[in-house]
Amino acid sequence: MVFNLRINNKTGDKTDNARVVTPELGTINKSDFQLLQNHIESISGISITMHKMYLLQSRLSPIMAEYKCLTYFELYKIAVTDKTNKINNRIIDAITTNETLWFRDKTPFLILKDIILKKMALEIVSGKRKKIRIWSAGCSTGQEPYSIAITILEYIKKNNIIQPDQVEIFANDISSRVIEIAKKGVYSSLEIDRGLPSEIKKQYFSFDGKNWEIHPKVKKLVCFFQKDIRASLNYVSMQDIIFCRNTLIYFSTLKKMDVFNAFAKILRPNGYLFLGGAESILDATDIFTMKMFKNKGLYYKNNFFRRFKQPPIL
Ligand SMILES: C[S@@+](CC[C@H](N)C(=O)[O-])C[C@H]1O[C@@H](n2cnc3c(N)ncnc32)[C@H](O)[C@@H]1O
Repeated sequence: MVFNLRINNKTGDKTDNARVVTPELGTINKSDFQLLQNHIESISGISITMHKMYLLQSRLSPIMAEYKCLTYFELYKIAVTDKTNKINNRIIDAITTNETLWFRDKTPFLILKDIILKKMALEIVSGKRKKIRIWSAGCSTGQEPYSIAITILEYIKKNNIIQPDQVEIFANDISSRVIEIAKKGVYSSLEIDRGLPSEIKKQYFSFDGKNWEIHPKVKKLVCFFQKDIRASLNYVSMQDIIFCRNTLIYFSTLKKMDVFNAFAKILRPNGYLFLGGAESILDATDIFTMKMFKNKGLYYKNNFFRRFKQPPIL
């Protein structure tokens, strides 16, 4: 591996202060890659395949420089002995893909508004249920849970049969960097323009001349936490709806199955699970049933009724 060492001109010392570490890309060896690959999967669930080796190096190189690591093995050693999780959080921030946008894929939000909210709101009115609980798992910078919250506020505005405090949205992400952005709810014009209809922008955001801030009434509906989805059984209460879209795509099949099994326990009977457009439930079809809505909208319904022999509500 080749590094640039800046040598102090006056003393000739290769001191730490004088050293500038710029790891050259394409130089990680296979065994160091495998060590980091296993470590990253253990701290995040994310499985980085061999063909992503170059991506891993480019994303880790700023951390290598910051911690003055001369080899990827050095970085690995610091990471596995990291008691404060500072470096592991930096690694997680670097390796996660946080791509997101407003009302992503549109159809899930239409299904939520036209079918699920309608049904659950009527259950509230008839006294069958008290609240609607929704979990956005792997929420990135907040666009997904805020889109859910806006969908609910729009539903309430048109139907006026439930109150905003009868809905709770819980949102988590493993990356502390994105959770901080989500909590602030402040976005650049570029970020705002990705999927946000202009009438929604006018109603639910304020502009300070540079950035757009989400309205407090939307913020109030969402609770954000920096949490690993794999430990969800320890911190997520029973939910009616789970959005877990484009989050498990980097997990191995085995790790995905663990998460789906946890979802089955967290989701109430006849609850709903939304996955991303390109995702499927794989071998978990004995826990969830796939339904089609609005021609292309998919959702998964918990099959608890099979176990408890209850008829399906929908
Ligand atoms: C591609 S984004 C998807 C965001 C949003 N759900 C959407 O579809 O627009 C995936 C997010 O999952 C998060 N993530 C990855 N592994 C996670 C884990 N083990 N626990 C919680 N979040 C995780 C990443 O940090 C990233 O922000």
